[in-house]
Amino acid sequence: MPRLLGARLAPDARAALILSGGPASVYAEGAPRVDTSLFELGVPTLGICYGMQLMAQELGGTVDRTGVSEFGKTELRAEEGELFQDLPPEQTVWMSHRDSVTAAPTGARVVGGSRSTPIAAFEHRERRLYGVQFHPEVVHTPYGNELLKNFLYRVADVPPTWTPAAVIEEQVERIREQVGRERVLCALSGGVDSAVAALLVHKAVGDQLTCVFVDHGFLRKDEAAQVVETFSNHFRVPLIHVEAQARFLARLAGVDDPEEKRKRIGEEFIRVFEQESERLGAIRYLVQGTLYSDVIESGGTDGVAETIKSHHNVGGLPEDMEMELVEPLRLLFKDEVRRVGEELGLPERMVWRQPFPGPGLAIRIIGEVTRERLAILREADAILQEEIRRAGLYRELWQSFCVLPAIHSVGVQGDGRTYGYPIVLRAVTSEDAMTADWARLPYDLIEIVAARVVNEIPAVNRVVLDVTSKPPATIEWE
Ligand code: XMP
Repeated sequence: MPRLLGARLAPDARAALILSGGPASVYAEGAPRVDTSLFELGVPTLGICYGMQLMAQELGGTVDRTGVSEFGKTELRAEEGELFQDLPPEQTVWMSHRDSVTAAPTGARVVGGSRSTPIAAFEHRERRLYGVQFHPEVVHTPYGNELLKNFLYRVADVPPTWTPAAVIEEQVERIREQVGRERVLCALSGGVDSAVAALLVHKAVGDQLTCVFVDHGFLRKDEAAQVVETFSNHFRVPLIHVEAQARFLARLAGVDDPEEKRKRIGEEFIRVFEQESERLGAIRYLVQGTLYSDVIESGGTDGVAETIKSHHNVGGLPEDMEMELVEPLRLLFKDEVRRVGEELGLPERMVWRQPFPGPGLAIRIIGEVTRERLAILREADAILQEEIRRAGLYRELWQSFCVLPAIHSVGVQGDGRTYGYPIVLRAVTSEDAMTADWARLPYDLIEIVAARVVNEIPAVNRVVLDVTSKPPATIEWE
């Protein structure tokens, strides 16, 4: 049976099932199927889109290619029932389908339809089977969350018990069970995932954990100090702060190709990390901040520790490292990780940090990375961050940062002509970094930032704003 059930479903906790959507046609060869005994379990089951069609097909209904597809916002007429309890009879839903259910499962009642899809929702109360053609899980279905709540809280009687405290308790238990009295190693990056993962492990096994923070020198102003302050001083986590700034700079000398920079930083990171872990002797376990979204992307949901895969590595750790993984965030989404981080007492700045690329400022300096240019960019970036926070916009932006191009332009300051660097301001909104829109920062804010940057950084005499979306541009400049 193809894997339709996610890792979140423990066999002894089948309170409700959701069969998700998917791009296939139920008639296509190799299309995901479901073991029909699933429908005999008496477990409330909700099929969404493909999941609904699969239910219809397996339970005595029919699915056809009617020639009418629906994509995007669609008006739905909902009838009274369990799914639409307390929801408006006319509502907008998000559709994305070619095939349609043309006969509901035997005994099911149709409770929702659109103009071109008369059977857009059904319920079979006695068998506790439910289906919707539209997508309640996307933001474009305004009452989608309410519908899911109706299904979970009312139909399935699963009250919302997710709390960060419960997650912490459960994970602490699991980690203790997994690692016993063995030692554990964790690479801290400054980001929220590795920070939360490390704190969970520390809570579970205390000083059996050693954290290694490879400071490549490309973090933002004060960020490295904050990692040390938070972990070493505040949480008292055994931490090795490897001050490798000079090594990394030396490796980048004369390099201006972006991919070459990434490659060298990645290689150097591995070298430094390996040296440190050798110094620590044999350690059996390695913490990794793998999230549930990484698990879905890599297609593995079995929960078994694997050896490291480079595509979801925290800092690009060596592929041949023979360590077993501890992945306490494996069942969490990013927003849940943040809530756990808050509960653990991680500072607000770390919990809510915008995404930041592993190679850091090095790929925001166009051309060669030098100590001088790093210092310029770091100062400019700190001003931008400070003002964006002051304006209360930090969390609204997916990313906001400065870029230092490899050019000079003429300016005039005081009595003299200058020939200085420009600084580019880049701020974007996005859901997932696949696409992004340039953020419409208030003019007043841009003015303050521009004035401060040219006044406070002598090498800069001009500030420009990047007004390109992705595509066609990328978020980063390199
Ligand atoms: P682009 O520039 O491709 O970036 O639109 C998409 C997202 O990926 C981040 N990014 C990186 N992250 N190592 C990383 O860990 C990298 O080399 C890298 N390059 C881009 C970028 O910040 C944005 O969030």
